[in-house]
Amino acid sequence: MDLGLTGKLAVVTGGSKGIGLGVARAFAREGANVLITARTKEAVEAAAAEIGADFGVKAGAVVSDIASADGCQAVIDAARAFGGADVFVSNAGTGSNETVAEATDGKWQYYWDLHVMAAVRLSRGLADQIEAKGGGAMLMNASICAVQPLWYEPIYNTTKAALLMFSKTLSTEMIKRGIRVNTVNPGLIRTPDWENTARDLAGQEWEAYLQEVADEHADIKRFGTVDELADFCVFLCSPKASYSVGSAYHVDGGMLKTT
Ligand SMILES: NC(=O)c1ccc[n+]([C@@H]2O[C@H](COP(=O)([O-])OP(=O)(O)OC[C@H]3O[C@@H](n4cnc5c(N)ncnc54)[C@H](OP(=O)(O)O)[C@@H]3O)[C@@H](O)[C@H]2O)c1
Repeated sequence: MDLGLTGKLAVVTGGSKGIGLGVARAFAREGANVLITARTKEAVEAAAAEIGADFGVKAGAVVSDIASADGCQAVIDAARAFGGADVFVSNAGTGSNETVAEATDGKWQYYWDLHVMAAVRLSRGLADQIEAKGGGAMLMNASICAVQPLWYEPIYNTTKAALLMFSKTLSTEMIKRGIRVNTVNPGLIRTPDWENTARDLAGQEWEAYLQEVADEHADIKRFGTVDELADFCVFLCSPKASYSVGSAYHVDGGMLKTT
């Protein structure tokens, strides 16, 4: 299937590794140019160079912290200089580990800025570009934890739930401008981050640890691959998904315990 993305520009935050890198590579595989962002200069620049070389598309890197207004503005400016965004994937984020009793206001604020305000600032700033290109799509990468919490990360659960509602609300406004907004809620996706956590917790038994996590949480009894999620994301952002507006899609191997 030709997804109709050739020559479009996809802006993917957190595109230097894990899911964001997989999504950026999947866009490039479809012939889209990509602009990826992260805080670590070497990693994001190397990832962009590799994407460009592997797929023969234009691939740029932005080094910025999107938990700040200035960091978001740097992404918006770079996208404009790159010819203007057609697609925006709000992906950068990270898990947390705390109790409500012990977490500081500062920690709550950081995750609010990273998971919610980055999406607010970047969608607001990139909407003009996408509209000027004749319309396109935005995709928020929230989490299954937006609707089904994990007990050890209340701040993650709460800020991802806020992102999910922001996305729904934004979709109503943006569709009037020809921009489709949707959300993806992944379950367990096997990223280097998960593998490192498993190594820290279980040492040499880390593979068995990951299997235990999958057995406990996902009906399918395995983690999803980055590619399984990335292909889904790219389809949702493509013109082939033209009637999908304001929806949340779980990609979770049966982890969600409700309809
Ligand atoms: N893996 C899963 O099972 C899973 C499940 C559900 C949802 N998700 C969501 O999927 C997204 C990606 O997760 P992942 O597992 O792929 O994570 P990851 O491998 O840790 O990658 C996170 C990416 O975001 C960037 N990033 C983090 N903080 C940033 C900041 N303040 N400003 C700019 N970039 C930042 C990182 O680069 P730098 O550190 O260099 O900035 C990196 O490129 C997250 O939003 C996560 O909540 C993941």
